[in-house]
Amino acid sequence: MSGALPPEPAIAELQAQYQRLLQRLEANEREFRRLGRAVWRVQEDERRRLARELHDGLGQNLTALKHRLGQIGSQLTPQQTDVRDRLETAMALCATALEDTRSLSRLLRPPILDDLGLEPALNWLARGLQDTIGVDVVVEIEALPLLDGELQTLLFRVAQEALNNAGKHARAQSVLLRLVQREGVLQLQVIDDGRGFDAAVAATAGGSGLGGMRERLRLYGGTLEIRSSPGGGTRLRATIPLDPG
Ligand SMILES: Nc1ncnc2c1ncn2[C@@H]1O[C@H](COP(=O)(O)OP(=O)(O)O)[C@@H](O)[C@H]1O
Ligand SMILES: [Mg+2]
Repeated sequence: MSGALPPEPAIAELQAQYQRLLQRLEANEREFRRLGRAVWRVQEDERRRLARELHDGLGQNLTALKHRLGQIGSQLTPQQTDVRDRLETAMALCATALEDTRSLSRLLRPPILDDLGLEPALNWLARGLQDTIGVDVVVEIEALPLLDGELQTLLFRVAQEALNNAGKHARAQSVLLRLVQREGVLQLQVIDDGRGFDAAVAATAGGSGLGGMRERLRLYGGTLEIRSSPGGGTRLRATIPLDPG
């Protein structure tokens, strides 16, 4: 009979197969996340190393060079105006190169995150945005449990991208950065009152910026939610379980 159900042992066997497949999928997902997190760890370690090298190597040498040029300048006679002009140009170039080196180093991995931890690092990010863009940034951080370095880095990178976006795209007057913990879940919110954008586009954005943020959060069992509309500001919320299980 073609319409008859398969015999019970066959159903049991199908169910067992289904369970095995499900388990394998779950194991693959865990492995994928573990590998993804390892890639991020290596990348952050490398950034930290490069940041130190830039600061302590190239940065120190440029400082020494500036100092030497200053010494040469102090030995010039008042008549050597032409040489003095050229020397001053060289010193200005040197100062710019030193400033660029320092900001590149901070961009790669700000030492404040490793030396003082997440909260000072978030305040530092907020101050940076305030000083460069002139937007008013309020930071609210509730008392948090002790977070490991990886989670701190994750939260820092999400906040960094969200604040950069608020500075670069939103034309906001004020931004709120909030970090709280609710029932074992960390919530990082970045809310701006800027011009907003089509959040449907953001939901599918892959690769850089928001897409990268979403992918990175997923590796830690987290999610990214964006509510935005043209003219209506942007509310971004990242959630990360404290115990990704
Ligand atoms: N806070 C924001 N306010 C307004 N527009 C935003 C905001 N954040 C993101 N966007 C829009 O979403 C786009 C994608 O952002 P993102 O993925 O970070 O890429 P990128 O910053 O490199 O352009 C931006 O180009 C911008 O148009
Ligand atoms: Mg961006």
